[in-house]
Amino acid sequence: MKHLISLFDLTLEEMESILTLAEKLKRQNKEGIQHHLLKGKTLGMIFSKSSTRTRVSFEVGMYQLGGYSLFLNSNDIQLGRGESIYDTAQVLSRYIDGIMIRTFKHSDVEDLAKFGNIPVINGLTDLMHPCQILADLLTIYEQKGTLKGLKLAYVGDGNNVANSLLHGCAKVGMDIAVATPKGFECDKNIVFEAREDSKSSGSQVIITNDPEEAVFNADVIYADTWVSMGQEAEKADRIKIFMPYQVNSQLFSKAKEDAIFLHCLPAYRGYEVTEEIIDGPQSVIFDEAENRMHVQKAVMALLMG
Ligand code: CP
Ligand code: NVA
Repeated sequence: MKHLISLFDLTLEEMESILTLAEKLKRQNKEGIQHHLLKGKTLGMIFSKSSTRTRVSFEVGMYQLGGYSLFLNSNDIQLGRGESIYDTAQVLSRYIDGIMIRTFKHSDVEDLAKFGNIPVINGLTDLMHPCQILADLLTIYEQKGTLKGLKLAYVGDGNNVANSLLHGCAKVGMDIAVATPKGFECDKNIVFEAREDSKSSGSQVIITNDPEEAVFNADVIYADTWVSMGQEAEKADRIKIFMPYQVNSQLFSKAKEDAIFLHCLPAYRGYEVTEEIIDGPQSVIFDEAENRMHVQKAVMALLMG
């Protein structure tokens, strides 16, 4: 494992080792045990989109590992004025030990990894959000004690989070059902990759336009915003199209009685999820947000250590 760009690139063993190390680092963190696995190392964090969780969890995580992080707003570095990815990758490789990048074009992240000599971590692109799904899997494991054989239902837009959930669930042997409106389905190539992995993991990949079909008998219900970063102009139209895909108590009642609710956040109450669900007893959204830090520390330690 040289980079973390897409969960499809990881073997099951690599995925398991990230989650196992994350659990250990989380436990040590709670016990006040220091783990300076990246003492003296520096992570550069390039952001072309907003962030609360990703920025803070990587920054604090790096600090807890004994290293240092640099926040690089893409508008403030020369990349934003047209310097090439090639030159940026070459130059940053001379100064720092790893790059985390959040941007629009997925291929920009792949190019950064190809042209530089240091590990690259995908902090979200229009296509994928792998760090989020590692945190989701850790959260589900903590709640359910297993991953294999569970069913996750994602209801809403076939976006970056949905794409990476397909990759992640298929890899670990969880059944996944994704319900989107027509025309808002997940990336076709990613569905194909998930089906490939599901053959060896034994999971089921269900793609539907029917939220009730997806949620039926699910152990985990997952929602994300209907308007991802960069889609703000489509907001009014999207709200009309996605309203039948709202996660509310009527829909939630079709899942297993002990189903848990996940959301990558930020959430928009009253749109993709009602208040009673997201703030209810079955919601584990803040454990999920916390786990971003623990899994990313594990990823950084494994890639940059
Ligand atoms: N879930 C997530 O990536 O949150 P931020 O956009 O706040 O980083
Ligand atoms: N799908 C959302 C996730 C935010 C963490 C977006 O891309 O804006």
